[in-house]
Amino acid sequence: MDNKLKKVCTIEDISLNSSKSFNIEGHDILITNCDNKFFATGLKCTHLNLSLEGGIVEDSRITCPHHKSVFNLKDGDVLQGPQTVPGLNIKSPKVMTDIAQRFMKKLGVYKIEKKGNDIYVEI
Ligand code: FES
Repeated sequence: MDNKLKKVCTIEDISLNSSKSFNIEGHDILITNCDNKFFATGLKCTHLNLSLEGGIVEDSRITCPHHKSVFNLKDGDVLQGPQTVPGLNIKSPKVMTDIAQRFMKKLGVYKIEKKGNDIYVEI
């Protein structure tokens, strides 16, 4: 496989604790700035394949803006499952996590590198 670093953007392109989507050679990638640490993941939430752009970013996590699934930006793990049915109120976070692990895939993560102000990902 021919993995190469591709320039995606500069650090100024991504505001603090936010994310922005890019398409690099056919890959939909989300670059996230969490407390000035940068992460590169797949753009689409693994629940219903909707964009994670605009999700809440904190503590190396992103919360999907659609049904509030939470992903670890470091490794793509599902930390909290989706609330797909309005009004469904499962009290136990453990149950939600179990559901998430069963029905949701990890978010893809890309190797990211900063060179000066430029951000590269390995495609
Ligand atoms: S699309 Fe992200 S939680 Fe449903």
